[in-house]
Amino acid sequence: MAKTRLAWLLTLLSTHCFFSVLAVVLKTNNNSPWTNEFDKIELSCLIESISTINPRIEWKKITNDGPSYVYFDKKISGDLEKRAVIREPATLLITNATRSDTAKYRCEVTAVDDQKSFDEIVIDLVVRVKPVVPKCSVPKSVPFGKSAELSCVEEEGFPKSQYQWFKNREEIPNDPKISSKFSNSSYTLNIDTGTLRFIAVRKEDAGEYFCRAKNDAGHAECPSQMMEVYDLDVMGIVMGVVVVVIVLLCIAVGICCAYYKRGYFSSPKQTGNNYKVPAKGDGVDYVRTEDEGDFRHKSSFVI
Ligand SMILES: *[C@@H]1O[C@H](CO)[C@@H](O)[C@H](O)[C@H]1NC(C)=O
Ligand SMILES: *[C@@H]1O[C@H](CO)[C@@H](O)[C@H](O)[C@H]1NC(C)=O
Repeated sequence: MAKTRLAWLLTLLSTHCFFSVLAVVLKTNNNSPWTNEFDKIELSCLIESISTINPRIEWKKITNDGPSYVYFDKKISGDLEKRAVIREPATLLITNATRSDTAKYRCEVTAVDDQKSFDEIVIDLVVRVKPVVPKCSVPKSVPFGKSAELSCVEEEGFPKSQYQWFKNREEIPNDPKISSKFSNSSYTLNIDTGTLRFIAVRKEDAGEYFCRAKNDAGHAECPSQMMEVYDLDVMGIVMGVVVVVIVLLCIAVGICCAYYKRGYFSSPKQTGNNYKVPAKGDGVDYVRTEDEGDFRHKSSFVI
């Protein structure tokens, strides 16, 4: 009885061992690797256990459009063709990553001679992209007390860029209240959109501004631009308006006078059909042309 039990136990044990040996099992060093664009990156797929001599190894790239082959029939295919190699036994090495490589990749190994003949492992690759020089817009000149908006946009960076603003080469804190230097300023800064908004500018807000876009891969800055703040002086405006009104009045009076004179003096001219005759008769100025002579004649008459 004891013997049969022992035999049964041994059989169970050996069966268990048999199954665990004849199974393909994969593992990875890193299932969420990242690299910067144009660098190399390894998508590790290690075979922990296998009995099959010549297993079938495949890599698929999984995007929103579904899976596509990266490594199939012992060849790298598709977009990665010239940029990747397989490192024994099943690791995929991308030699020059591009931003479009950001995706999930699946390493699949089929081992026909193993009891458990299939295993797969998914690796989530992120290719980081440095920001490019952001597009910045800084108003040149803002009236005192008015609002102002400075914007900074950069769209290449991956992960998405965050933004910092600098005034006179000094970083502007996210919250003006935490800084003694900026505590009286009325701005709000959105580091995700890059917008620096002043509710009411002060004289002290004038200065050289630039913005930096940054992410894990690097950063880039736009050239600094000057923002000036000018006074909207009420007295100045009133004086300005008064001066403009006076000037307009003078012009109006001038035009009226001119009309009046022309109206008054055009009637005698119409009576004399030939104006050469009165011009010569007066002997005002024979050298001048007829028109000028006529004018001269009229003006001398006025004086
Ligand atoms: C990687 O690819 C980019 C663009 O295709 C190229 O400009 C660069 O020289 C490549 N780098 C290497 C190390 O091959
Ligand atoms: C902020 O305003 C207060 C009150 O007007 C003034 O006493 C203080 O000096 C100002 N601080 C700065 C940094 O300009």
